[in-house]
Amino acid sequence: MSPAVLTAIRTGQGQAEKGAVLVTGGAGYIGAHTAKALAEAGWRPIVYDNLSTGFREAVLWGEFVFGDVMDKAKLAETMRRYDVKAVIHFASLIEVGRSVIRPDLFWQQNVLGVMSILEAMREASVPRLIFSSSAAVYGEAAAPGALLTEDLPKNPSSPYGDTKLSAERMIQSYCRAFGMTGLALRYFNAAGAAPCGLIGEAHEPETHLIPLAIRAAMGQGDPLKVFGDDFETPDGSGVRDYIHVCDLADAHVAGLTAPIAEGAFEAVNVGTGKGCSVFEVIDQVEAAIGRPVPRSIAPRRPGDPASLVADASRAGRLLDWTPRMSSLVNIVATAAAWHADQRYGATQAAKYAAAG
Ligand code: UFG
Repeated sequence: MSPAVLTAIRTGQGQAEKGAVLVTGGAGYIGAHTAKALAEAGWRPIVYDNLSTGFREAVLWGEFVFGDVMDKAKLAETMRRYDVKAVIHFASLIEVGRSVIRPDLFWQQNVLGVMSILEAMREASVPRLIFSSSAAVYGEAAAPGALLTEDLPKNPSSPYGDTKLSAERMIQSYCRAFGMTGLALRYFNAAGAAPCGLIGEAHEPETHLIPLAIRAAMGQGDPLKVFGDDFETPDGSGVRDYIHVCDLADAHVAGLTAPIAEGAFEAVNVGTGKGCSVFEVIDQVEAAIGRPVPRSIAPRRPGDPASLVADASRAGRLLDWTPRMSSLVNIVATAAAWHADQRYGATQAAKYAAAG
């Protein structure tokens, strides 16, 4: 992409006719892909991020505002300054295992952070919130192999899942009381990278299966640990519903205009309806890279359910949305291309070093 085109994108030229959308955590993985999708759909993304885990290099679409979600005054001021029409709130902590050890951090960021957003929205009269929720709200709700529907009992198996469920309930009560509109997107497993190669998955430390399997195959990391081969699943390994991050991003854009009334709150599963096992992912990575994934079988990871696969039909209806890029072949191909040509490398290494 030429510097002139990048500048045009950054300044929002030709991108703003539908109005501004505040994207908290827009320098992170799903947030950056959503900012791109927003710009391409004619919205003006305003990325609000404190760069604690996100990357400045990932903010290529719209404006950047450095800020923390706990800073309610700055949030409200930003919403007013850009005449924000809706908020998409990503900025949260995501590692299930860490939530068990540091629940304090998760309740602060993932629940009080949402309250700060909601209060700022009230102050600035912003009517719609789209919230990053998670399949983790369900815990082991479905029978083995069954698809998860939104109405199943919620029984999170980690503090992470508890915080997401609590935040959903907070949003619902704010919507009802103050006439706002709320939409929680319960993500299944986001994976893959934008085909343009400018943005992709970069967590430090990385805990997710697909990047770790790719790194192992490329000889860039440790051998992969398969966390359990004795689950009640067809091949004994964990089954997840992998959805391409660009499909997930499109669901957020669709959420901005989805027919949800004032005062109403909806929660929908954003997945593909198809489960893949850890061994199937490994096979696909080996096929894409043409090298074996060095691996060992390790004990189950605490808090990991056997299977999480979405019934995403409600999202399809409400958002008029269908995943288009989420074949495992395409997910792994785009992720492998990104990892072969990692663009945030310098920043990532510096952050890692600074964290000691
Ligand atoms: N896995 C391994 N080895 C690894 C990493 C993962 O075997 O090194 C397995 C896991 O046990 C699981 C599958 O690969 O069966 C996927 O694990 P990930 O860590 O990639 O993703 P999770 O399903 O644990 O969690 C992700 C997000 C959560 C979100 C959840 C929703 O990180 O925030 O998806 O399904 F809540």
